[in-house]
Amino acid sequence: MGQGQNSILVTGGAGFIGSHTAVELFESGYHPVIVDNLSTSDRLLLEGLPKITGEKVDFFEGDCTDREFLRSVFSQRNITAVMHFAAFKSVGESVEFPIRYFRNNIDSLIALLEVMKEFGVRDFIFSSSCTVYGQPEKIPVNESAPFLKAESPYGATKQIGEQILEASVRSGYRVVSLRYFNPVGAHPTGHIGELPVGVPNNLVPYITQTAAGLRKSLTVFGNDYDTADGSCIRDFIHVVDVARAHVKALEYLWSIGPESNSFEAFNLGTGVGVSVLELIKSFETSNKLSLSYSIGSRRPGDVIKVYADPSRIMKAMGWKPDFSLEEAMVHAWNWQKKISGLT
Ligand code: WQD
Repeated sequence: MGQGQNSILVTGGAGFIGSHTAVELFESGYHPVIVDNLSTSDRLLLEGLPKITGEKVDFFEGDCTDREFLRSVFSQRNITAVMHFAAFKSVGESVEFPIRYFRNNIDSLIALLEVMKEFGVRDFIFSSSCTVYGQPEKIPVNESAPFLKAESPYGATKQIGEQILEASVRSGYRVVSLRYFNPVGAHPTGHIGELPVGVPNNLVPYITQTAAGLRKSLTVFGNDYDTADGSCIRDFIHVVDVARAHVKALEYLWSIGPESNSFEAFNLGTGVGVSVLELIKSFETSNKLSLSYSIGSRRPGDVIKVYADPSRIMKAMGWKPDFSLEEAMVHAWNWQKKISGLT
């Protein structure tokens, strides 16, 4: 399996976005090759993949900073492009352990670029983030917005990653950087979803764990912001829409012709701003339940309002979101009920 096929390397493919992207690659006729060190993910998602695709997962366990490991994968598979999801991504944790974040997120990127060069692989899709913008002056934010000071070392690793990639295209790489807004939800089949390790940092898994009785109550980090209902505003995008954009980005890269070396960044969001309190309401009404939550103090580092202007990716790749926020809330809850043994 996978020997001669057009294989797409999916680093961090045992994680939330990587696993959903592996499904979309498979369903579009490509062969995902997953590498993951399982440091912040779980084999559960790897076990869920075959239930959706009907195929055994092509998985290599290892670390993307380990050049020998990467070389062994590239020599066993005909890798034609790389999608790089493997990175630490907790804003709060990055403030606590900055060196660990810079080392892991930056050195894994450099190692991949070095090994790709050795094997003549040029096409690279990078998981970036809306955090590269800091608190944007203009909302909705578009790709020409400046990189303001990163709110966290995590955000800084994404800014530095893009700078490394932009500088590298001169030596022959073709790069698309996808700046995720807030990926939420789970696969409609319920076989894969979000699996935070420990106490969730992100809003939606905290909500679903509270609804499942694993957490006593959700704390809303502040309702005294300068917004309509006082809570922060974000752009919550279904994880399958994020995954489908990666397949579009791959095909976009292949459409721009062999001679061009390019770096292009695209916002990946719905373009709709939703407040924390509105999302809670959507979760409750979509799943016909009421959630226990209280208002707490602001979380340091939070930007008040950020949502995307997605017109560039829509125009260049013909991508658009297929799922609504309500569907994302239903899928997230179905997944939580399944992994909590509630269904
Ligand atoms: C969203 C809102 C919180 C938890 C981060 C990364 C970003 C991307 C998505 C990777 C904020 C509020 C949260 C809680 C709350 N990551 N909240 N109670 O910080 O917007 O973005 O995750 O791609 O790069 O920066 O996401 O889900 O942590 O917070 O009130 O228990 O929910 O204050 O306003 P964030 P988040």
